Amino acid sequence: MPIVITGEEIEELLKNLDLVVESALNGCTVDTRRVSDMQEFYFGSTREDADKIVYQILGWPKGGGKADLLVTVTVLYPGDLGNEQFHTKGHFHNGPDGPEFVVGYRGVGILQTGDRTGLVDEVTVERGTHVWIPTGVAHRVINRSDEPVIYLSVSSAAVGHDYDSVTQLGWKRDITKEVQV
Ligand SMILES: [Fe+2]
Repeated sequence: MPIVITGEEIEELLKNLDLVVESALNGCTVDTRRVSDMQEFYFGSTREDADKIVYQILGWPKGGGKADLLVTVTVLYPGDLGNEQFHTKGHFHNGPDGPEFVVGYRGVGILQTGDRTGLVDEVTVERGTHVWIPTGVAHRVINRSDEPVIYLSVSSAAVGHDYDSVTQLGWKRDITKEVQV
C-alpha cells in the first residue's frame, strides 16, 4: 500500500509548484470530466446533474516516446449527488502497469487505493504530503471537503488506464459520505 512521506523539505518543492501550475495553464491540455462522463460511477445522477464538472486534468504535452513521463495536475471540485461525493474515476494501470507519484498541492483529498478484491486503504492527500502508489494498486481521490482538491501526479507515459475493473469491483458503493475504509 502507498508510502506517505511528509516534511518541511516538501515546502520548497511546493513553492516551485506554483510556477509549474502557472506554466501548465499557459500551455497544457485540459480534460474536463462532467457528471455525464461518469454515469457508471453514480447511482443518484439525474439529467439536471449532467453538466456539473466533477474534475479537470491539466496535462503537460508529451514528446510521444514510451520513456516519457505523464505529468498532470488534477483539480477535483467539491460536490455531491445526494449522498455520493465527487471523486475521480479511479483506475488500475495496465498494458504496461507501473507506479504513480502523487503530491498534494491544495485542499484535502482522500486517496483511496485497492486491489482486485476492492478498496484496501485510504490516505489523506494535502499540501505537504506525497504518496508513492506501487505498481498493481488501483487508485482514485475523493473530495470530502468544501474546497477544491489539487494534486500533481507523475507516472510513466507508457501506462494504460483501466477504469472498467474499478467499477466492476464495486468501488461505486464506497463513495457515500458515511463509508470509511
Ligand atoms: Fe493512475
